[in-house]
Amino acid sequence: MTTLIKNGEIITSSAEFRGDILIEDEVIAAVGADLGNTADTVIDAAGKVVFPGGVDQHTHYSALCNTGDQDTAGYETSDSALVGGTTTVVDYAPQDPGKGLIESAQYRIDVRAKDKVCVDYALHGFITYVTDDNSGLYRDIARLSEMGIHSIKCFMAYKNSPLHVDDGVMFRVMQESKKHGITVFVHTENGDVIDEMQRECIARGEVAPKYHAETRPSFCEGEAAQRALYLAQQAGGTPLCIVHNTSKAVCDVIAEARGRLQPVMGETCAHYLFLDKSYLANPDFEVASRYVLSPALRDKCEQEHLWQALRDGTLHTIASDHVGIGMDIKRQGLDRFDRIPNGAPGAPDRIPMLWSHGVEKGKLSRVDFVRFTATNPAKVCGLYPGKGDIAPGFDADIVLYDRAWRGAVRWADNPNGADFNIYEGFEQLGRVETVLLRGKVVVEQARFVGSYGQGRFLRTRPYGACYTGL
Ligand code: URP
Ligand code: ZN
Ligand code: ZN
Repeated sequence: MTTLIKNGEIITSSAEFRGDILIEDEVIAAVGADLGNTADTVIDAAGKVVFPGGVDQHTHYSALCNTGDQDTAGYETSDSALVGGTTTVVDYAPQDPGKGLIESAQYRIDVRAKDKVCVDYALHGFITYVTDDNSGLYRDIARLSEMGIHSIKCFMAYKNSPLHVDDGVMFRVMQESKKHGITVFVHTENGDVIDEMQRECIARGEVAPKYHAETRPSFCEGEAAQRALYLAQQAGGTPLCIVHNTSKAVCDVIAEARGRLQPVMGETCAHYLFLDKSYLANPDFEVASRYVLSPALRDKCEQEHLWQALRDGTLHTIASDHVGIGMDIKRQGLDRFDRIPNGAPGAPDRIPMLWSHGVEKGKLSRVDFVRFTATNPAKVCGLYPGKGDIAPGFDADIVLYDRAWRGAVRWADNPNGADFNIYEGFEQLGRVETVLLRGKVVVEQARFVGSYGQGRFLRTRPYGACYTGL
C-alpha cells in the first residue's frame, strides 16, 4: 500500500521546502521535490503546510489527580489530540493504589488503553506510593527497561499527598535510574515552602483560587530545580528532564547546569506561553478553578523569558500537561484553593495555539516549531529516530495544516474529555485539516475518522535525554 502526499510546504526539523512524501505501508519511503504521481492513494497538499505529527511528552490520560483518587478522562478522548495534530503522547503511568510501577504500567496498557487509545503512546513511570520500605520500588525501576519504559517522574511538590517524593527517596531513584538508562523527569517545586505558605494563607481566610499562585512563587521552582540537579550530579550524573518550567528563576538554574555540561533537558507547556495568573483572579469559581494547575500560571512578563529560553537552547520541548479533568472534580475545592485538583486539558490545542500565536506571531521559526513540538520530545523520550520528523524510515505520522483557515478555539469544535477549554475564544490562525498515523488517514476535514484502539504502545530506548545531542 503506497500513499503520495503531493506539493506540500514541507517543514522538517532542519529544513522547509515544497515537495512530496512517498509512504509505503506505515513508513516514509522517500521525500523529494517531485516523486511522480504513481501511488495507491494520492493526497493533494497544495496550499497546505505539512509537518510531522506532534509528540506530546507530558499527558495524564486516565490518571489520578494530585489531590484525589478519581480517574481523569480516558484514552478514548485522545481522538481530540489527533484532531489537534498530535499523533504520539508520552503518558504518565501512576502507580495504582497498592500496586507497583510495573504492574500499574502493564494494567494501563492491557486495560486502560486497550481498544480505546487513538494515538501512539509510550509511558513514563510515575511514583505515587512512597512508603517506609521502598525496596519494591527500586526493584521495579530495574525492570522498567524490560517493558520499554525509560523515564520516571518524581514530584518534589504536593507535600502530604501520596505523590510527594522526599529528597532521600528521590536520590535513590536517581541512582537506580542511572544504572538502567532511565531519565528522571522532575516536578521541581519546593513542597515544604508551598505547604507552609498555603497554611498561613488559609489561616488568614484567603481561600479563593487566586491564592493558588500566591502560595507557590517561582523561587520554589528555582530552588527545587537547583536541589534536584545537585542530587542528580551526586547520584552519578543521572539525566534529568525538568518538566513544565514556568519562570526565569528555573530557566536560569537549568542554563547554569547545562553550562557545566550536566545532562538536563527542559520542558515548558503551551499554557505558560499564552496564559498568565490574571485568569486565576476571576471572581467566578467556575472559571478561575479551570486555571488551577501546577506550577501556577505566572506574571505575564515570564512569558518572554520562556520564549527566550526556548530560543537559546535552555528549554527543548513544549508539552501540554493534558489533564482531562471536569468541573465536577474541580468543585472539590469550592471552599479552599488547595483542595482544587490540579490540571487542565490541552493536548488538542498545543499545535494550533503554537502555530497561531508562536509561528504566525514571529515568536517561533517554522523549523523550531517542529523541533519543540515533535522532534525534541521524541529525542528526550527515546523515540527518535522513528517518531518526530519527516524523513525516510520514520513512521508516516503527518499533519496537513490549512494556514488560510480563520476562526477561534472552541471547546465544541473539538471536545477534549473535560467540559471546558482554557483557550476558549483565542484567535486561531489555520487548522489541522488532515492527519496520517503510520500512513493511515485518521483525521479528514478536521474530523476524527480513525478507530478507537488504533494507537500502538511504543517501547522507548534508554538514555533518551543523554545521547541525542540536544
Ligand atoms: O497541575 C497539573 N498541570 N498537573 C498535575 C500533575 C502534574 O504534572 O503536576
Ligand atoms: Zn508535575
Ligand atoms: Zn503533569
